[in-house]
Amino acid sequence: MTENPNRGLVDVVADATTVSDVDPAHNVLLYRGYSARDLARGHSFLDVVHLLLVGELPAPVELAELDRAVRALRGIDPALEALLASLPLDCHPMDVLRTAVSWLGACDPTSADPSPEAGAEKAVRLLAVLPTIIASDQRRRRGQAPIAPRDDLGFVENFFHMTFGEVPEADVVRAFEVSLILFAEHSFNASTFAARVVTSTRSDLHSAVVAGIGALKGALHGGANQAVMEQFVEIGDPDDVDEWLAARLPQGHKVMGFGHRVYKRGDSRVPTLHAHLRRVVELRDGRELLGFYEVLAGAMLREKGLRPNLDYTSGPLYHLMGFDTCMFTPLFVMARISGWAAHVIEQASDNVLIRPVAVYAGKAMRDVPTVDDRLPRTLGGTRS
Ligand code: COA
Repeated sequence: MTENPNRGLVDVVADATTVSDVDPAHNVLLYRGYSARDLARGHSFLDVVHLLLVGELPAPVELAELDRAVRALRGIDPALEALLASLPLDCHPMDVLRTAVSWLGACDPTSADPSPEAGAEKAVRLLAVLPTIIASDQRRRRGQAPIAPRDDLGFVENFFHMTFGEVPEADVVRAFEVSLILFAEHSFNASTFAARVVTSTRSDLHSAVVAGIGALKGALHGGANQAVMEQFVEIGDPDDVDEWLAARLPQGHKVMGFGHRVYKRGDSRVPTLHAHLRRVVELRDGRELLGFYEVLAGAMLREKGLRPNLDYTSGPLYHLMGFDTCMFTPLFVMARISGWAAHVIEQASDNVLIRPVAVYAGKAMRDVPTVDDRLPRTLGGTRS
């Protein structure tokens, strides 16, 4: 096979974007020029959604309008509810979301409208209803009836209400909101790129989001936050970390929640979320889990020089908040829908078909054999 230093599109500049910048040299992530770390200090997730979709932070009247729209669009159509209730209970929650977005696209009369205005409206509709779908899926898996959204609650408070029937402490609500802000956007990551590829063929926003969900599901991308929690369960005890790593690292096994394609000296988002994790640890008696977290992180730094990425921090955070492990990646979708939509709008506004080329590494050109020459190889046939 021909060596290709760019295999996996490593270091390939596929296009320009104005949505965000991941700058590993300065360890910073910018959303439309603002540091995500600064936005996570005092802004709301809806501020960030407006920033990503429209390009600027909202004026108070614009934020109020977005908030009003999202509150009004939280309900699930009964036909979609019935469809989701018919899915097997053991299918992955990301399959539920993928199916839901596909249905929503099929029923959206503006589905084929590629204008930025229609794109933003479709994004807001998805942003509003996805939390309801995720909360109801979590409850269904626990044998609980869904809880209807409340339009007198904010975005995060309502999500906790729909999932658990109550709104937790303000610090837990804020920690979740900060996770949404930090997960909202991350430039040309695999799922965003998948969404842009779909958009580049002049397909519609829902199809692009379906592709994004499919890409995010994988354990090397968004699925890592679920895998991180499963890893803690598998290791079982912090005292067994070294032995567990010794059985894996020499074989080249990946440890979930560590490393990053772009950040090579640590993920710029982790310190912010880690501060919130520490607060939630205090509130939810999570010192043991945090201790485990630190032991594995220390061992990975020592053994591989690798630092945690955002999935490593969000896994324990979501666990302590009470979410089932299989629901962690859908929580990522709740946030990333804003980034995907911003990229879909950008791609559609100045489109070029994304179509790379490959180095052919197969057989050289040869004659097509006759039927008689095609002996079944499984029967040990040879060709004369
Ligand atoms: N565990 C163990 N080793 C890892 C690793 C991990 N999580 N991530 C990278 N490495 C090692 C590789 O084995 C390789 O080692 P080598 O040079 O000795 O062969 C080296 O670091 C470079 O890895 P590479 O696979 O080229 O990095 P990448 O940029 O292609 O991969 C990820 C980035 C994210 C795919 C990779 O770090 C990974 O699989 N992480 C775990 C999954 C995860 O947390 N994903 C969420 C990302 S936000």
